[in-house]
Amino acid sequence: MSDRYLELSHTPFGKALASLLGLPQPPRLRRAEGPWSEQPLAGRHALVGASTGAQFVQPLLADVSAAGASLRILPEHRGLPLVKEAAHKLKLTLAGNPAKDSGDAPSAIFLFDASGFAEPAQMRELYDFMQPVVGQIPSSGRVLVISRAPSEAGDPAHVACATALRGFIRALGKEIGKKGATANLLEVQTGGEDWLAGPLRFFLSEHAAFISGQVLPVGAGPREEPPALPGSLRGKVALVTGAARGIGAAIAETLAREGASVIGMDHPSAEGGLGETMSRIGGIGLALDVTARDAAQRIAAEADKKFGGLDIVVHNAGVTRDKMLRNMAPHLWDMVLDINFGSILRINDGLLKDGFKDGARIVCISSIGGIGGNAGQTNYAATKAGIIGYAESMAAVMAKRGGAINAVAPGFIETAMTAAMPVGPREVGRRLSALGQGGLPVDIAEAVAFFSSHAAGGINGRTLRVCGQNFMGA
Ligand SMILES: NC(=O)c1ccc[n+]([C@@H]2O[C@H](COP(=O)([O-])OP(=O)(O)OC[C@H]3O[C@@H](n4cnc5c(N)ncnc54)[C@H](O)[C@@H]3O)[C@@H](O)[C@H]2O)c1
Repeated sequence: MSDRYLELSHTPFGKALASLLGLPQPPRLRRAEGPWSEQPLAGRHALVGASTGAQFVQPLLADVSAAGASLRILPEHRGLPLVKEAAHKLKLTLAGNPAKDSGDAPSAIFLFDASGFAEPAQMRELYDFMQPVVGQIPSSGRVLVISRAPSEAGDPAHVACATALRGFIRALGKEIGKKGATANLLEVQTGGEDWLAGPLRFFLSEHAAFISGQVLPVGAGPREEPPALPGSLRGKVALVTGAARGIGAAIAETLAREGASVIGMDHPSAEGGLGETMSRIGGIGLALDVTARDAAQRIAAEADKKFGGLDIVVHNAGVTRDKMLRNMAPHLWDMVLDINFGSILRINDGLLKDGFKDGARIVCISSIGGIGGNAGQTNYAATKAGIIGYAESMAAVMAKRGGAINAVAPGFIETAMTAAMPVGPREVGRRLSALGQGGLPVDIAEAVAFFSSHAAGGINGRTLRVCGQNFMGA
């Protein structure tokens, strides 16, 4: 389903009307058009800065430069000596940030290593980096701040400063969202400095167009060689549930784009749509209800027969059966709990016994409804919150096998599920977000592809909201 208001607000008439009536003008988001490449940031200028005492400047400069961005600096900034020293060691060139009306292309990326903050007054260095340039952030620009994970930051003042950054990026995301620009925070845990390149590339790229205001911890990952790009998932076998349409179809398509062999699964009643999606992407269809008691065995048998096992499982199938709790019949409770939640645990248990290859990665689709809660969704919200706790607690189990489990929590996404909502709540769901619009299924699919790949090797047990910084639960 398309967002007609967004389309209208970009016509000359719609633009004039929106500004006359003071209505929102949601920005057009720039999205990646192809698979992951070695240089997703090619042609873009990155303004880089650091706090005094910052710890990750050298890997950050190396990674952002290897991803294709050219580096710029603010000449007067206090943390500049660290940036210059790192650039010198890496033999990278630094240019000054151009003045506003100089005619030079503006910086599109703003990367700040805040890991040196030891006391509140020092946070002025972040203000001194962002404040002069915030007005110049272009449409679909990216702000990314890096800090030590608060849990590992040390004494209370360090912890407080690291935590303060969460408030900073959430507020900044809401300021710059009008332009389609995003602000996010990576929190580095022990060993995570070796795993920063993947998340850095993801959040700064056009693959992360609908993610803002988020905090993602990055830790140590398993030792394995990064794949040659394009083809981040070449040689991998992925199962996607609910793949006939909507978000599941986009996930199947995106994993195939990245080189994975895809088994798309959906309820037998959706076999027609499933067949169409699978023939479009060269995948294999499996018409099977996720709640079937033998689902894991049948999935494992199919994967084994066709490919010799599974590397990636995406639990996307889900339903809503909304009713106020006082009116909710028991079968609506049972159905939603079993499809959205119980089946995921059963299928994973079965595949852990037999089906998963070593290093398998699981991605579960949660919802911001499980974080913020909506009236009429006690059943749905319970399942989507449960998935978040499940991913956290299964992380250690998956890590022992060299794999990982993470969750993606979509906000309002333009699919058949949201098209069925009444007009009022639908419009509120879209506009009450920093980016002022609903996301597209591909926005969720890009995050799933990231979590399925080597690039997310340092991330396990986490939930990432892909919601345009929706105000619900934010
Ligand atoms: N669309 C949104 O805004 C949004 C927001 C948050 C979370 N989500 C979640 O994203 C996922 C996909 O949502 P969508 O909007 O694409 O929904 P959708 O209704 O368009 O698609 C869901 C798919 O799951 C399949 N399915 C349902 N029950 C099944 C079963 N028992 N066995 C196998 N397949 C089954 C359906 O046939 C369908 O193809 C769901 O888990 C949903 O809760 C969606």
